[in-house]
Amino acid sequence: MKYLYLLGYPLEHSISPAMQNAALRQRKIRATRYVKNPLPPDKLREMILALRAPHCLGANVTVPYKQTIMPHLDELTDLAREIGAVNTVLKRADAHGKLIGDNTDAYGFLQALWVRRIRPQNVCAAILGAGGAAAAAAYALAEQGAREIILLNRTLARSIELADRLNQRFPQVALALNDWDALERMHLIINATSVGMVPHADESPLPPKYLVPRRAVVFDLVYNPPVTKFSRDALARGARVIGGLEMLVYQGARAFELWTGQRAPVEVMREAARKALQEMTRAQSSSSRRRVGRG
Ligand code: ATR
Repeated sequence: MKYLYLLGYPLEHSISPAMQNAALRQRKIRATRYVKNPLPPDKLREMILALRAPHCLGANVTVPYKQTIMPHLDELTDLAREIGAVNTVLKRADAHGKLIGDNTDAYGFLQALWVRRIRPQNVCAAILGAGGAAAAAAYALAEQGAREIILLNRTLARSIELADRLNQRFPQVALALNDWDALERMHLIINATSVGMVPHADESPLPPKYLVPRRAVVFDLVYNPPVTKFSRDALARGARVIGGLEMLVYQGARAFELWTGQRAPVEVMREAARKALQEMTRAQSSSSRRRVGRG
């Protein structure tokens, strides 16, 4: 049996195994399984050993390792280096199992826009957040010819660091930091923070005094809950909304294609991810009912 790993910590709430194993079954790749490998943060060495073992074909990397894993890999793709984060590890069979760090988040983000016929060229976009997901979205937009990007993040130092990197690589893109008033003229507003995620589903990353413009497209990268408070508020304003499951599916589809060399069965993956998320949501709400009951 061969394995694809999901490396991160904690991993109880990940729906990637359901999604990737459905794809492996659909493509009849029988002797391979995608499994969670939850290793606490002091176990980075074990993580690299697990990746180098012959039965490992590659991996996805998630919080908190997307950046810390980078110096331990043999090579990085230009994209992973530019974004500053690795979410997919590939193994070069022709080069003694060399570990290559790649990033499929930018592709996943763009694909979710493209399939809705949203073209990033000349777009003015606001990105809430300045972590790995925000960097992937910002690089994708800048690379596709966005006109203006505004980074809105709680920690200014992190936005400055991301803006510096973006500015060096894409000097033609207008960048601004923490200019919340500019929101009203943005075409695309992306939530790349973790605000609004279960168990804090009643929170929104948008301070109450700001509203999403009616004609904007809102892309909330949070997928649990499937409809966040931010998305609900934007829908109520008449904005168009894309949910985070879309990026999850397309980044996973790209990783599947890189690992296996086969076309990803995107619909099968979306359906498996949706079902796993639904089951998790059901389990979460029954456990919170039980907690309320006890209280
Ligand atoms: P990821 O790789 O998924 O992007 P990350 O790098 O940990 O994860 O980034 C999380 C983002 O959510 C950051 O922009 C973080 O803001 P800070 O840079 O200030 O930490 C943002 N975030 C998390 N919790 C938040 C909160 N309660 N309010 C505002 N922003 C928050």
